[in-house]
Amino acid sequence: MSARRALLTGASGFIGARLAQRLLDEGWEVHLVLRPDSASAALPAPTPRLHVHRHDGSTMGLVDIMRAAAPQAVFHLASLFLAQHQPQDVERLVQANLLFSTQLAEAMAQCDVRLLVNTGTSWEHYEDADYDPVCLYAATKHAFSALLHYYAACHGLRVATLKLFDTYGPGDTRPKVLNLLKRIANEGSQLAMSPGGQLIDLVYIDDVLDAYVQAWQVLADGTQAEPMADYGVSSGAPLPLRDLAALYAQVSGKPLAIDWGGRPYRPREVMVPWTRYQPLPGWQPKVALADGLARFHQA
Ligand SMILES: NC(=O)c1ccc[n+]([C@@H]2O[C@H](COP(=O)([O-])OP(=O)(O)OC[C@H]3O[C@@H](n4cnc5c(N)ncnc54)[C@H](OP(=O)(O)O)[C@@H]3O)[C@@H](O)[C@H]2O)c1
Repeated sequence: MSARRALLTGASGFIGARLAQRLLDEGWEVHLVLRPDSASAALPAPTPRLHVHRHDGSTMGLVDIMRAAAPQAVFHLASLFLAQHQPQDVERLVQANLLFSTQLAEAMAQCDVRLLVNTGTSWEHYEDADYDPVCLYAATKHAFSALLHYYAACHGLRVATLKLFDTYGPGDTRPKVLNLLKRIANEGSQLAMSPGGQLIDLVYIDDVLDAYVQAWQVLADGTQAEPMADYGVSSGAPLPLRDLAALYAQVSGKPLAIDWGGRPYRPREVMVPWTRYQPLPGWQPKVALADGLARFHQA
């Protein structure tokens, strides 16, 4: 039997690189869509089942890649994340999160590729609203979901959107809170932080990868009957930032010098993460936070 074929965007990123490896490990043929200057350092080692396509930015370029890859499923992770934007960021936010994403959906429609595992964010749901974006990044994610309704209605796309909360794991170099904690633990330096009452919902990378594979499964086996559905990928156990820092200190065995309240909360800080999500059928996180933090700290 020939291997299942996946097309994957965002494979030079933290989650995408690991998902590419995971799909290879499970026997998939994997086609990566990267930009001409996307970094290759994090990509899986070359193997005959791994194909790297450099996209020239055009819609027809992506149609050609889709036709050549002929995947049974598309995993869309590419995105520009900015917690707060400046005026000069508008074009690149729209380019990454709307234009490229719409080119991808169009290429799927043109090539009769139907199954899409898309990536959204819990930040589309500030203060538990059905829709209230925390920032422009979250608004662009939501706008793409709105566009996908057209492709579902008129071109038969079937879409599972994973709305991620925070994610972490070994090798994560993104400038997020855990890397700040790791740095002050290792350097013994001091850090000014907000008062630390905001709840943080962290899901370990292996559990996140399980969610992507499971989302494909619910599309492929018909567990998801409707053409489009959103699923929250939550730990189910968010904890205050102060408690997270205390756990990090315990796990790393190093005291953390944090000046709590030395900085204000940022505008529209998410104090309580989204709770009114639909869980992904057949998925739940397995890695306990203390275990995941230990693996993160030791890497
Ligand atoms: N990590 C989290 O905690 C979290 C939370 C909520 C949602 N998400 C979502 O999860 C997905 C993966 O996140 P991540 O943290 O792994 O991302 P990441 O490390 O920031 O990587 C982003 C990826 O997107 C690609 N990309 C950026 N702009 C692009 C463009 N204009 N055209 C094509 N590709 C572009 C990057 O490629 P280059 O190498 O070319 O820049 C890179 O491969 C994203 O959709 C993100 O919004 C993540």
